[in-house]
Amino acid sequence: MARPRSSDERRSEPEPPADVPRRLVVAMTGASGAIYGIRLLEALHDSPVETHLIMSEWARRTIVWETDYRATTVAKLADHVYPEEAMDAPPGSGSFLTDGMVIAPCSMKSLAAIASGLSGNLIHRAADVALKEKRRLVMLVREAPLSVIHIENMLRVARAGAIVSPPVPAFYARPRSLDEMVDHTIGRLLDQFGIDSGLVQRWGGSQPPADDSAAGDASST
Ligand SMILES: Cc1cc2nc3c(=O)[nH]c(=O)nc-3n(C[C@H](O)[C@H](O)[C@H](O)COP(=O)(O)O)c2cc1C
Repeated sequence: MARPRSSDERRSEPEPPADVPRRLVVAMTGASGAIYGIRLLEALHDSPVETHLIMSEWARRTIVWETDYRATTVAKLADHVYPEEAMDAPPGSGSFLTDGMVIAPCSMKSLAAIASGLSGNLIHRAADVALKEKRRLVMLVREAPLSVIHIENMLRVARAGAIVSPPVPAFYARPRSLDEMVDHTIGRLLDQFGIDSGLVQRWGGSQPPADDSAAGDASST
C-alpha cells in the first residue's frame, strides 16, 4: 500500500493546506502501455491519496487491446472519474488543489497538444494547469523510434517544468517478469510525489562481482 512521506521527509516541498487531502490527477491516453496507468491506480487504491482519473477515448480502446481489463473496471479503481470532454470538471481549474498529475501512458498526440498549450480536452487542460501552477507533471511518454518532432515536444514540456519519464525498464533490479518491470516503473513514478509505494527494489550500492567468473556463478552471491 502507498505510504505518503511524512512532512519531515517532504520538508523542501510546499505544504498544501492541512485540510486538503493528497490528490493526484491521473490521465491515461492511447499510447501503448495501458498497464502502467492501471498499476498506478491499483497502487493508490485504498491509500490516503485521492485519485482523479481522466481516460481518453483511445486509452479506453487500448486497455481492451492490451490487457484483460475493461475501461469500466479500470474506472472503478479511481476515486473520481471524468470524461475527457468535461472541461468544467475540477482538474480543469488551478483553484482545485492537487499534488500534481501523471499521464501514464502519454501518447505523442497528447504530448504535442500539451507542448503547444492546446487545452482541447480535460487531459490537456489539466496538464496545462499543472504547468502554470508549477505543480508536478510526470509524463510517461511512449513511442519508438522517436522523431525529431517528438523529441522537440519533450524538450518543450521539460522546459515548462514537466518531468518526462519514458517507461524504460531498469535491469539492475533483475526483474523476473513483466509485472515486476511495470511495478518498478510505477514505484519510481510515485517516488516523484514522495509516495513510497513499496514497489521499488531499491539499489543498495553493493559492489559489482569481482570478475566474470563470479558474475556467472549464482551460488557465490
Ligand atoms: C494498440 C495501439 C497502440 C498505440 N500505441 C501508441 C504509442 O505507443 N504511442 C503513441 O504516441 N500513439 C500510439 N497509438 C496511437 C494513439 O492511440 C493515437 O495517436 C490517438 O489519437 C492518441 O490520442 P489520445 O492522446 O487522445 O489518447 C496507439 C494506438 C493503438 C490502437
